Amino acid sequence: MFARGARAAGKEKVVYVHNDISEILFSEQDLANRVTELGKTITRDYADVVDEGIVVVSILRGGAVFTCDLIRAIDLPLEVDFMAVSSYGNGAKSSGVVRILKDLSTDIRGRHVIVAEDIIDSGLTLKYLLENLQSRGPASLTVAALMRKDAPAQADISCRYTGFECPDEFIVGYGLDFAERYRNLPYIGILKPEIYQ
Ligand code: IMP
Ligand code: MG
Repeated sequence: MFARGARAAGKEKVVYVHNDISEILFSEQDLANRVTELGKTITRDYADVVDEGIVVVSILRGGAVFTCDLIRAIDLPLEVDFMAVSSYGNGAKSSGVVRILKDLSTDIRGRHVIVAEDIIDSGLTLKYLLENLQSRGPASLTVAALMRKDAPAQADISCRYTGFECPDEFIVGYGLDFAERYRNLPYIGILKPEIYQ
């Protein structure tokens, strides 16, 4: 898997993004299996409320890859919409100051909303988002987070669907980035500290 290369600037240049990863936490297969399970559970839990309308709210950009797989694992009619927020001022820690960069196009009043998020770290982004979405009067509001970090001071977030608990490391892949890179890795891995330090 480390033999993938790319051509750049007209000369042969091999870019080994995989070499920036110190450890693979969840393989492509692990992710597929778990997301399928989450989709089945959601299908069971929401079967009775389909008539009222289900909206999956994907949090860009990190949650996009997870969302695309999750919605295809839910066997119910639903709508999907996207919201973009920025939570990090700079650096690798959440500031708690959340800016809405792109809002929903859908009116979620009276609908059953499932927020699809990549990872809960400090939980500050989600805490803000949930308060914001709740004020719009949805029939229900739950969270499906692919990962929840084992972080020391995490905001109290009720997350109904969690894919994996993960260590308090900086991780990338399957939608998660460092400086906008690595989102396209098909697995989730720990980024070598020397890359971000
Ligand atoms: P929180 O507000 O600290 O919970 O973090 C919110 C956002 O930060 C997540 O939705 C991710 O987009 C990003 N994030 C948190 N931890 C990581 C990580 O380990 N790698 C990449 N992005 C992360
Ligand atoms: Mg991010």
